Amino acid sequence: MGEQKFTRKIACIGAGYVGGPTMTVIANFCPDYQVTVLDISQEKIDRWNSDDLPIYEPGLKERVLKARGQNLFFSTDIDRGIQEADIIFVTVNTPTKNFGEGAGKAVDLQYIEQTARRIKENSKSDKIVVEKSTIPVRAAETLNNILHSGNNSIRFEILSNPEFMAEGTGIHDMENPDRVLIGSMNTPSGQEARDELIKIYERWVPREKLITTNLWSSELSKLVSNAFLAQRISSINSISGLCEVTDADVDEVALAVGKDTRIGPKFLRAGLGFGGSCFRKDILNLIYLCEHFGLQPIGDFWQQVIAINDFQMQRFVQRILKAMFNTVVGKKIALFGFAFKPDTGDTRDAPAIHVSKMLLKEKARLCITDPHALSNAQKDLEEEEGDITFETDPYKAAEGAHAIALMTEWSQYQTLDYRRIFDSMEKPAFLFDGRNHLDHQALFDLGFNVYAIGKPDRTQFDQGSQ
Ligand code: UDX
Ligand code: UDX
Repeated sequence: MGEQKFTRKIACIGAGYVGGPTMTVIANFCPDYQVTVLDISQEKIDRWNSDDLPIYEPGLKERVLKARGQNLFFSTDIDRGIQEADIIFVTVNTPTKNFGEGAGKAVDLQYIEQTARRIKENSKSDKIVVEKSTIPVRAAETLNNILHSGNNSIRFEILSNPEFMAEGTGIHDMENPDRVLIGSMNTPSGQEARDELIKIYERWVPREKLITTNLWSSELSKLVSNAFLAQRISSINSISGLCEVTDADVDEVALAVGKDTRIGPKFLRAGLGFGGSCFRKDILNLIYLCEHFGLQPIGDFWQQVIAINDFQMQRFVQRILKAMFNTVVGKKIALFGFAFKPDTGDTRDAPAIHVSKMLLKEKARLCITDPHALSNAQKDLEEEEGDITFETDPYKAAEGAHAIALMTEWSQYQTLDYRRIFDSMEKPAFLFDGRNHLDHQALFDLGFNVYAIGKPDRTQFDQGSQ
């Protein structure tokens, strides 16, 4: 690397879900830029350099193969990558702090800080540093202070460029973004740096979709976007509870409400609740910020979004218990899906983790199946006590089970032979659809007792027998 003539050299520190795909897209659209993705994990970099990429994301592999070795490189040589680069993206992980002050809410900034120090130590020329990891508002200030501390003649210009892509549709989202947000300092050098980033995105993003703001607005907008999205999910899920006891149907309510163009139809799918690496973490971060500035009622408002999400999963398990004669001790329950959403193997904060733990406390026997997330599921549950098995074949997972609980709406679950599944299960056979993904009438007609989110129970039992 470094021998060809490139217009600009980009480095990205953190070859995870965000860093790997974003840099691949940039490398594809900017063949005259050298893009080097760096990570401390040798194993991860080896996989980025192999046919077995560390991330499953539709469309990613073809794009990596197109650019890798040409202008896209993956390496653990972080120091050299920093030295060579004109622009450095930071996409290291920023988990919720689980110790000390702010534990459970604040963001753990140790990786960001370590990265900043490493950039400072290895820089021999001026650089643009772009925060892409979601970090607390005013974290750019911390970065700036670390980078410019001590005797240092080198200038770093900090930009905030949060990533809005969703997993499973990451490549599509990056290639066709609703907007690209770039926050910068309102100084001539800040604007110059901002223009450097605009030059990259302009290659494929229409100019009107490039939004420029000050640094703090950009950082806050990322938290607020995720909080608003999660808020819509909790809003519809709160109504699903009401639907289940009033014979209303939450999907019908969502359709009717979403037709109002002021509200819109998206992100109104009732289900087990939101998972993923971002929503909970970013809302907790927003709450921490509110509390820090003495705005407790605002923090409490956002706390409710999380409380409803947790309540939704508890309600789901309570419904399973109630339907299955108030006990699941020793009963086999097949969990269909474990990823936090379909088309990804990612299980971070997946509702399936929380539901599994609750069912294990009730002493159920769990058989978990998922097309892409079984190895992550195994890691997530390795410390749990109880009877857990992992099975790639959904038919085998359901064999001898008392119930199926659908956790993730993988499309392949819609086309399974449910007659065959029903015949292989214990009776009465229960099906709990945590994502309103299956044909409930057809399943009921096959003999299943069907329970879907925000819909009345469809049971084979005589009225009043339960
Ligand atoms: C991360 C954050 O979780 C998210 O908040 C933010 O919005 C974007 O960055 P993600 O890419 O999903 O998201 O994280 P992850 O897949 O864990 O990747 C982070 C990578 O950084 C890992 O591969 C890790 O090895 C690497 N890393 C971490 C470093 O290279 N150096 C460090 O000091 C710390
Ligand atoms: C989210 C944001 O969408 C993205 O902009 C940001 O950059 C990262 O966080 P992601 O977590 O990958 O992306 O997935 P998303 O599609 O937003 O789904 C998050 C969770 O919400 C999933 O568990 C999904 O099942 C759930 N969800 C989503 C619902 O329960 N109902 C809905 O209507 C939509």
